[in-house]
Amino acid sequence: MIDQEMAKIELKKYNQEHIIEQMEKLNNLEKKELLEQISQIDFEEITKLYKNIKTKKEINQTQITPIYYIDKEKINDTEKNRLQENGEQIIKNDQYAVVTMAGGQGTRLGFNGPKGTFKLNIDDNEKYIFEILAESLKKSKKLYNILPYWYIMTSEQNNNQTIEFFEEHNYFEYDKEKVKFFKQGELPVLTEDGKLVIENSKIKTASNGNGGVYSAMKKSKILDDMKSKNIKWVYIFGVDNIMVNPIDPIFIGLTIKQNMQVASKSVAKAYPEEKVGVFCKRNGRPSTVEYIELSEKMRIECNKNGELVYGEANIISHLLTVEAIEKISNKDLKYHVAVKNNLYKFETFVFDGFEYLDDMLVMRVKRDEEFAPIKNKEGIDSPETAKEIYKRKLNI
Ligand code: UTP
Repeated sequence: MIDQEMAKIELKKYNQEHIIEQMEKLNNLEKKELLEQISQIDFEEITKLYKNIKTKKEINQTQITPIYYIDKEKINDTEKNRLQENGEQIIKNDQYAVVTMAGGQGTRLGFNGPKGTFKLNIDDNEKYIFEILAESLKKSKKLYNILPYWYIMTSEQNNNQTIEFFEEHNYFEYDKEKVKFFKQGELPVLTEDGKLVIENSKIKTASNGNGGVYSAMKKSKILDDMKSKNIKWVYIFGVDNIMVNPIDPIFIGLTIKQNMQVASKSVAKAYPEEKVGVFCKRNGRPSTVEYIELSEKMRIECNKNGELVYGEANIISHLLTVEAIEKISNKDLKYHVAVKNNLYKFETFVFDGFEYLDDMLVMRVKRDEEFAPIKNKEGIDSPETAKEIYKRKLNI
């Protein structure tokens, strides 16, 4: 830990003198905690990230090319059975784990608490998001008499609340021994002028984006834990898709058959202007491209079957080998900036790690069967729309 004088030098060097002023007002314990926090901050990196916001990014369209995908629906029955059997072997051998990324802030939903603890009213039945996810995972017990290992990524802010919630609800009858929580990393947020913010005597921070999953798995020794358990395949998904289908042997079987280290599920883009990221190749490597990055021509371009060339939307459902996760965990992912509550927040994205692998499989699934995200309080991708999809599927 650095002492007060060193902290002052550091803060002055990076134009954060206002923190010194605030520090003077704190009591000894608060001061100690703040100094501890300051010693953890990589000021050089924060400054670089802030400068990056101000530089306009050049997008070279020619670097982006389409990616091949396989439509799950179009696989013939004989092949489906074969893939199913191979995938089932992985699950039955206890070589399968899932990671739920639940470290987000859920700003758009505006719910005070971890998103997974949000309750949905499904007719007369009330269900929490985490409860729905536990139910989807428990299908494995029914089908194969085994539950997958369930790792849950939380944030510094919501970790305790999340664990308490699971304790309170008896892990929704999931085998507690198979559940592990781990915290993701965080970074300070900045004002528009590039200043750090003090809140409750601490420098305000936020989780570092869902791409933080790789380094967090390494740092919290989740990767070591997986290796010691001989886990081979890991399904990584966001907490807010209540239709996620993590017990999908065909997906595992197909990824193995294609000899891939990483695979993602996609849904067909609903219309060219839909604001979703789609899978593509960038400089020949797996990637995604955001709606705003696509030129008008690329946005509407169709292939000979009349399908959008850039039309496979990312639903944050990814399957990776433990080796692939380990490889990515040793790389520095690029940061994206988001403005949340009028502050700059720096995030990496889980799919940005895929560019470190040579190739990937994209498997298209049906939107209504596997995608019902809860992002906004109202309107599209809200609890209401997600509930409708969920009810339709379950025939409620
Ligand atoms: P989103 O990008 O939708 O962010 O996350 P969010 O924080 O949930 O919501 P907003 O943007 O503040 O409204 C997609 C998935 O990635 C997880 C989220 O929990 C969600 O499952 N995530 C996001 C993390 O685990 N950590 C992060 O730092 C960010």
